[in-house]
Formats: sequence, structure tokens, C-alpha cells
Amino acid sequence: MDAGGDDGTADVARAYRVFARLEARGRSPAYEALATAVADDAGIVGFVATLPAAKRQPNLLFAAARYLLGAPASIGSLRDLVRRSPAELDAVLRTRRTQTNEPARCAVLLPALAQLPEPLALVDVGASAGLTMLFDRYSYDYAGHRLAGADPDAPTLRCRVSGPVPLPRRIPAIVCRIGLDLNPLDVTNDDDVRWLSCLVWPDEEDRAQRLAAAIASARRAPPTVIKGDLLTDLPAVVAQAPAGATVVVCHSSVLYYVTPAQREQFARTVRGLDVTWLTSEAPGVVPGTERPPDDEQTTVLARDGPPLALADSHGTHLDWLG
Ligand SMILES: C[S@@+](CC[C@H](N)C(=O)[O-])C[C@H]1O[C@@H](n2cnc3c(N)ncnc32)[C@H](O)[C@@H]1O
Repeated sequence: MDAGGDDGTADVARAYRVFARLEARGRSPAYEALATAVADDAGIVGFVATLPAAKRQPNLLFAAARYLLGAPASIGSLRDLVRRSPAELDAVLRTRRTQTNEPARCAVLLPALAQLPEPLALVDVGASAGLTMLFDRYSYDYAGHRLAGADPDAPTLRCRVSGPVPLPRRIPAIVCRIGLDLNPLDVTNDDDVRWLSCLVWPDEEDRAQRLAAAIASARRAPPTVIKGDLLTDLPAVVAQAPAGATVVVCHSSVLYYVTPAQREQFARTVRGLDVTWLTSEAPGVVPGTERPPDDEQTTVLARDGPPLALADSHGTHLDWLG
């Protein structure tokens, strides 16, 4: 039975149960168990129901708890935190956002990027800390097809491939990269780095290690991420790209943050610029990339139009369409 009443708590309890079943199951046993236990806990559910709707998501609550506790929450430690330090937890929830930055998404974008005339100027929309702009820093292993990046200590991104993936012979030259984000995270700021690591789910140790190695590499030469809104500030950022480069507006796991009408508005803006548009987003989030409902892949790679490939949202598999 859910721990909810009719004061918003029933919705919260239901949302945590749905998260446990549909998002955490099969991916993180720890989060599946925690979300299920939260749904049955009247104290935690009551606390979550006092938050604005956008601040109630399980992954935000669990990351905030981990940020304060210094370790992934258990139901006991989360209950104690809510009881003893509600103001502290509330403050983290209200100031922080889900901004997971997954460098492995570069492995999905790279084959489509490498087909473009060099040199490239990248504008990464919704860049978070900028880790998905550092294509040439990472090494790649596409099921034995290896590419060496510029930083030997940066992670090697391993990606299974199927279909006629145009695997590049080398990583293209990138002469400029600028990120745009509502709330840029700074790889040189220890609190931001701690927040990024708290956003990785328990049971995903490979992602945690990859993130740590990518951040360490980024700290040696930090990327530029400008504060701004994708709905209004893209043309000004694109204008900063150098002449003579192929300007690529790219984004991964970003556009679902805005409404369908705003996605259409953004698409019109991008199409009005002299740029290549490279996206790795959930099916249908970029207009024109809808997939049949039984499609098991969670991400569609598209360049200036119809889908090129399907992938998983963490960049570990790329399936090129025929
Ligand atoms: C899930 S993160 C993805 C980060 C990165 N693209 C990646 O794939 O690892 C989504 C990012 O989009 C940003 N974002 C959401 N809405 C935005 C907007 N309207 N304008 C700019 N950035 C936005 C968020 O702040 C967040 O950093």
C-alpha cells in the first residue's frame, strides 16, 4: 500500500513506485529497493510532497541525499536525514538539478561527426559540465576498432556496434568547442564534481569510474560552458564559432527538458542557422525521429533530419540503420 493521502502524497508515493518498477528495475537494485521503500514511508513521502513538482523526482532526491550523506542512501539513512536535517536537504534539492553528464555518449555521436568536413567547431547544447564536447580527448573501442585520443589518461569509451556503422579511421580535428547550459557545472569546482558523481546511480561502477577519469582529464584543460537558455541564446553562441570551420550544433539527452512546442521552436532556430545539427535524444524528442513503440533502443542519433542510428542512452551500443 502507498504511504500517501490526498494532499499530494499519494502522487508522490505512486511516482516512486513507478520509478522503482520502470526505471530502476534491471538497472539498479539499490535504487529499486530504495524507491519502493520510500513509497511506503509516510515521513519521506510527506517531505517530498512539500517540494515543488519539479523537485520531487527520485533520482534528484537520492542524489541530494548521497551528496549530504557522503554515500548512497539506504532507507534508514534517508529517513534520518529527512527527520534531522530537512532544511539542509531541502536546500540541496532546490539549488541542484539532474544534470548527469555521460562522456560515453561521445562514442555514439563520433561516427556521424567524423563524416563532416574538418575542422569542426562544436556547440554543445545542454552541456552540463562539458564532458560530451571532449571527443578528441577520449579513446574509443568499437568492438575491436580502436581510436586513440589525445589524453592517454582519459577514459576509453567502449561501444558495441551493429549495422553498417561508418567507423572513423581517426578522430576529427576540433578547433573550437563551446557549451551552452541553463546551469553550467564547473569541472574545477569540487562541489560541482561531487554533485556530478552523486548523479551516477549505485550499481553503475563502470559509469562512476568513467566519469571520474573524464573529469580528471577535463580539469587539465577545462571546457568552456556558457550560461544560457537553448530557446534564446543559441544564435549568439554559434556566432562565436570561427570562420572556415564546420559548425556542429550537438546535444544529447537534453531536449526532453523542454516542452514539445519549445522543441519545435528550437528546431526552427537551428534550421535557420548555417550549421550541422547532430542529436542523440530519446525517440521523437527531436521532431522527425519518432520510432515504433516496441523499439527497445532508448536513443535516436540524427543528423539534419531522419534517424541515422539507434543507441542506448549511456553510449554503450550503436546500431546503424541500413
Ligand atoms: C541530462 S543533462 C545532459 C548533459 C550532456 N548533454 C550529456 O549528454 O551528458 C541535460 C542538461 O541540459 C540542460 N538544460 C536543460 N534545459 C535547458 C535549457 N532550456 N537551456 C540550456 N540547457 C538546458 C540541463 O541544465 C542539463 O545540464
